[in-house]
Amino acid sequence: MPIQSVNGSNLYYHESGKGIPLVLLHGFPLDHRVWQAQVHDLAAVSRVITPDLRGFGKSINNSTFTLQGLAEDLYVLLSQIHALPCVLGGLSMGGYVALAYQRQYASTLRGLILIDTRAASDDPETRAGRDIMIELARAGGSSAVAEKMMPRMLAPATAQSNPAVASELRAIMESCPAQTIQHALAAMRDRPDSRPALTRIAAPTLIIVGDSDVITPPAAAEEMHKSVASSTLSVITGAGHMSPMEQPQQVSRAIKHFLVKLATS
Ligand code: MLT
Repeated sequence: MPIQSVNGSNLYYHESGKGIPLVLLHGFPLDHRVWQAQVHDLAAVSRVITPDLRGFGKSINNSTFTLQGLAEDLYVLLSQIHALPCVLGGLSMGGYVALAYQRQYASTLRGLILIDTRAASDDPETRAGRDIMIELARAGGSSAVAEKMMPRMLAPATAQSNPAVASELRAIMESCPAQTIQHALAAMRDRPDSRPALTRIAAPTLIIVGDSDVITPPAAAEEMHKSVASSTLSVITGAGHMSPMEQPQQVSRAIKHFLVKLATS
């Protein structure tokens, strides 16, 4: 099993394929399994690396963390496995980590992919909601958190027409340790605003959003697109917050197109 010792923690990652390293970071409270379709579709054109961030999936760890700390872990991991420079993509919380990474390690990025995510930090209402959710995780564990989150994760059409995706997503969420959920909620609550850094992003950037994402809606993606000079926006039809799982072919196609353009530019 590919495990690297990083900053005192064992980090798991899956990798497949050869070529330009494409690193995909999962969202909350998820793990590398959300990228199954993209690993399958993109390994023919890139070296696809899907880590489990500290505390998630097979990267078992009970300590608290910040999103900046997760970005630092990632830099060490990618250096150790000779995967830099890379194209770095992040889904939702993974996007927050990707933005933290780009602030510190911009020179190691060939490209950036921001999927169903936002650059702004939490507003006061969202911060208060994080504290309520931390209590829920403490009292009810990961299944209570999954139950609370599920109705907003998928487009209504996905939830109805693709029960397999819904049950897979719920199973991944329920397998996340309750302690990691609490740590991640605190880390997201306390993350800085990445908007001022957007105008300084020089790497070609692909922004992807589900047209029915209610957690990080298309307006948040459009705001990032306006600020990042070298960005392209791809709106995925028939997807909510989990576009890589809900509409895997559309998402893989957008990423493949981006990688091909990078290779020829
Ligand atoms: C995620 O999908 O990673 C989270 O829902 C993001 C968030 O809660 O801000």
